[in-house]
Amino acid sequence: MENINLKDKYLNFFESKGHIVIPSAPVIPENDPTVLFNTAGMQPLVPYLKGEPHPEGKRLTDVQKCFRTNDLDEVGDKTHHTFFEMLGNWSLGDYFKKESIEWSFELLTKQLNIPVERLAVTVFKGNDIVPADTESAEMWKNQGIPEERIAFLDDNWWPNMESTGPCGPDTEIFYWRSDEEIPTRFDPENDNWVEIWNNVFMQYMHNQDGTFTPLKNKNVDTGMGVERVTAILEGKTDNYKSSIWKEIIAKIEEISGKKYDDKKYTKYMRIIADHIRAIVIILGDDARIMPSNKDQGYILRRLIRRTIRYAKQIDIQIDSNWEQELANIVINEYKEYYKELERNKEFILEALKNEKTKFNRTLEKGLREFEKITRNIEGNIIDKDLAFKLYDTYGFPIELTQELAHEQGYTVDIEGFKTKFEEHQEKSRAGSEQKFKGGLASTGEMETKYHTATHLLNAALKKVLGEHVHQRGSNITAERMRFDFTQNEKMTEEQKKQAEDLVNEYIQMAIPVERLEMSKEDAIKMGAECQFVERYPDIVTVYKIGDISLEICGGPHVSNTSELGVFKIKKEESSSAGVRRIKAVLS
Ligand code: ALA
Repeated sequence: MENINLKDKYLNFFESKGHIVIPSAPVIPENDPTVLFNTAGMQPLVPYLKGEPHPEGKRLTDVQKCFRTNDLDEVGDKTHHTFFEMLGNWSLGDYFKKESIEWSFELLTKQLNIPVERLAVTVFKGNDIVPADTESAEMWKNQGIPEERIAFLDDNWWPNMESTGPCGPDTEIFYWRSDEEIPTRFDPENDNWVEIWNNVFMQYMHNQDGTFTPLKNKNVDTGMGVERVTAILEGKTDNYKSSIWKEIIAKIEEISGKKYDDKKYTKYMRIIADHIRAIVIILGDDARIMPSNKDQGYILRRLIRRTIRYAKQIDIQIDSNWEQELANIVINEYKEYYKELERNKEFILEALKNEKTKFNRTLEKGLREFEKITRNIEGNIIDKDLAFKLYDTYGFPIELTQELAHEQGYTVDIEGFKTKFEEHQEKSRAGSEQKFKGGLASTGEMETKYHTATHLLNAALKKVLGEHVHQRGSNITAERMRFDFTQNEKMTEEQKKQAEDLVNEYIQMAIPVERLEMSKEDAIKMGAECQFVERYPDIVTVYKIGDISLEICGGPHVSNTSELGVFKIKKEESSSAGVRRIKAVLS
C-alpha cells in the first residue's frame, strides 16, 4: 500500500470543513502542574472546553505531541510507544454529533478509502445520569454502518466515570485489522477490531463533589493516534514497519550492522527507535527540560540511559556519534510540524551528548559490578545496598536495575531501596540545612554581599544565556562565591563579559533589596526563582531586587545593591552534566 501522510490529509480535511489548524501545544504542559506531560489533544484545550472563548474560533484541529509513561515498560512490542501524535478536531459549542459523525465517516471512507465493511462503532449504553446515545447510533446507521456493527457499551464515556473535569459520552470507531473473514456481528472483545478514532461529545462537567452539571457549551473532542492508524492504512501489523519509522529503523540497522527482522534484535531496535524520538521531542520543547533526578528530567534521564544500554546490546559503538545521527533524523522528520525542534536543535544534540558521556563513563563499571555481585549472591534477591550503589555511584535509574535483574531472573528489594534512598535524602537535606545554619551563624558582611551577588548573577545569566538558567547550588565564603546553574554549553568569553557587566550595572543602579513574605503558591505564581519547591514551607521569604530579580530565599542580604562593590568572574567551568559553575569575587 502507498505511504500515507495521514497528518496532512486529516488537517486539510478539517480545514475544508471550516476548522483552523492550531499548532501543537508543548509536550510539557504550560499551565497545568498536575501532570508532567500532555497526554491527549484536548488537555491544553480544557479552559476552552469549559467555555472560555478560543482566539481562533469555535472549530479547531491539530496534531498534538503526547507522551505517556504508563506504557514505558511495554515499549518493545509491535504497538506501544511513549511519545505519540494525536490528531484531533474540536467544536467549541458549534457543531455537535451529526457533523462530527458525518465528517468522521467521510474522512475515513472517502479520503482514506477505508471500506465500510471494515468499520464498526461503539456508543454509550446509558446509566442513571445520562441516557443511552441512540442519537449517535441512528446517525451511524444513516451513514451506512449496519446495526450489527454498532455496540452499546457502559464504558463509552471519556475520560471515565471517575475522573473530574469536562467529560461526556463518546463513540469509538473500530477497524478490522486482519486477513480473516470479517464477522457480520461486531464483537468489541475480538482483538482484530482495533480502535482508530474516538469522538467525545463533551457536554458535562464532573465536579469534585461527584455531581455532573452541563457545560456552558456542547463540545466535540476527538482523538486519533497517528502511529496506529498510519500502520493500519499501510497494511502493517507491526507499527514500526510503517513509513513513520522507516528511516530511523534503517539508520539503527546501518550503525549497528544488525537486521530489524532478526528476532534477537527486533525488540531492542524498537525501544531505541521509540525512545530516541521521545527524547528529541522532550528536549526540543521550549521548556528546555534537562536530564535530572526529578519529574520530567528524571523520565528523560531514564529514556536516555535506557537507550544507551539497548544500543550497547546491539553492539553500537557508544562513543561514536550514533545518538546525534538518530536525533537528526527525528528533528528533520518532525520539524515541519513542531517548529521548536529546529530552534532548539543545538540544545537537543548537546544535552543528549552530555548525558550520554556522563552515563557512558560509569555504565561499564556498573554492569561489571552488577555481574560480580550477582555471581556471588545466594538466592535471587538484589539487596538494597547494591541497588543503591548502582544508583548512587553508577547512575543506574532504579528501573534500569530492575530491568537488568528481571532479565537474569533476580528481583530487587525495592522497598529497601526506597528506604535507603529516603534516608540518604534526609541526610543530605539535613546536611544542607546544617551548612545553611552554620553559614548563617558565621554570616559576616562579605558573605551577605556574596549572597546578594548570587541573585544578581542568576538574573544576569538568564538575560545573557536564556530562561533555561536556574540555580543548582551555591557556596559562599568570605573570600569568594561559587554558583552552579543549568546550562549545557561552555560560556564564551563574550558571554562571561556580558554577564559580569550586567551584574556591575545592577550594582551601580543602586537598587533597594526588599524582603517579602508570602505563601509559596503566590511566590511561584509571581514567577519567583526557587531551587527545591517541595522543600520550602507554605509561607516563604522572597527577596525582590527591583524588577531584576525575585527569588525564594532565606537571606540574609544587603539592603541596597550599591553595597556590593565591583563584581568579577574568575572562572567558568563544567560542574556536572548540564550544569556549569562560575567562581566570582567582589572587591
Ligand atoms: N480526548 C479523547 C481521547 O483522548 C478524544 O481519546
